[in-house]
Amino acid sequence: MPERVVLAYSGGLDTSVAVRWMTEEMGVEVVALAVDLGQGGEWTTVRERALKAGAVEVVVADAREEFAREFVAPAVRANALYEGKYPLVSSLSRPLIAKHLVATAREYRAGAVAHGCTGKGNDQVRFEVSVRALAPDLDVVAPVRSWKFTREDAIEYAAKYGIPVSATKKSPYSVDQNLWGRTVECGVLEDPWEMPPEDVYELTVPRAEEPRELVVGFESGLPVSLDGRAMTLEQLVPALDQAVGPYGFGRVDMVENRRVGIKSREIYECPGALALLMAHADLEGMTLERDVAHEKARLEPRWAELVYDGLWYSPLKSALDAFMNETQRHVSGEVRLRCQPGTCYVAGRRSPVSLYEHDLATYTAADRFRHQDAEGFVRIFGLSVETWARRQGTGTSA
Ligand code: ARG
Repeated sequence: MPERVVLAYSGGLDTSVAVRWMTEEMGVEVVALAVDLGQGGEWTTVRERALKAGAVEVVVADAREEFAREFVAPAVRANALYEGKYPLVSSLSRPLIAKHLVATAREYRAGAVAHGCTGKGNDQVRFEVSVRALAPDLDVVAPVRSWKFTREDAIEYAAKYGIPVSATKKSPYSVDQNLWGRTVECGVLEDPWEMPPEDVYELTVPRAEEPRELVVGFESGLPVSLDGRAMTLEQLVPALDQAVGPYGFGRVDMVENRRVGIKSREIYECPGALALLMAHADLEGMTLERDVAHEKARLEPRWAELVYDGLWYSPLKSALDAFMNETQRHVSGEVRLRCQPGTCYVAGRRSPVSLYEHDLATYTAADRFRHQDAEGFVRIFGLSVETWARRQGTGTSA
């Protein structure tokens, strides 16, 4: 009996050709696994295409809720932005797909899993490191890395075996999409000086004219409502996408550092994600104690880096999660977002557990702040600088 391999299947050209190529060239049975992460696929078409390509079995896993709860929610708590800008759209999805690859491999008694990544990107790192962490006994196969096909070769190969690629859309870009946003690479974007043509964008096409306000509610760091209506995270993100995207808000254009040492120009569209992250970080400003806030801000870039680098399942990432979770207990309240053409910004915030005390902050009224205490505090605070300054004055430099 031929060995079985479970392939992470997207329905695109490369993974479709990979099904047939592994069957023919490696002599294995291929189980195609498609994971629904809110990218909005036509799953019956995806299923049919995988079967036409030669898969012995097709599994479609609806992982939207799991993705939101276990991957997006921690990213919100950690205010996760790689290199300060990218909300980790693809980086968050790969460890979850890896988890489903492993589960499917167990269910179908497969000895290996496979992905359709090239050797130049981050996604191969994320898939393989995640699978090794979850199931060190499984092999990982990367057909796209071993065949020597150009895009034309792949199209020809598909035609030879009657794999329907006409249906796979002929975009000049390489796109990845899920609940948390959309990533676009390749084509004219490979010239970092070139302005992205408007056809790059789908979620942030400016249409809305009238300013509007939105209120996002949080409970212990988790977004739970929009304009007072309770929503799950997997409902809230698309709802926010639709609300703020039409203002043209949510675009990122950056040259980023891949884990494999290559700089690449990337376009991201993440209206809902960026609005939520902005609101969450703002509410922390009101609810986190000063030292906690400052330490958290130091650890956040590290969390994002680990996730970007494919180390979702790693001891440091778990330890940082524990820290992040501990900080979120009182991150509850509401943030008011205002949208107007070209932008969306925080216009106000309130919290039942706020650390903002009007009595202390105000300059206007008589208050309970003991002004006389400030004198001694400031003198002692500045003492070491004062001592240093006096010595400068005497000209005796040690
Ligand atoms: N540069 C981003 C990242 O590394 C996006 C990758 C998108 N992946 C893709 N196969 N198109 O996370």
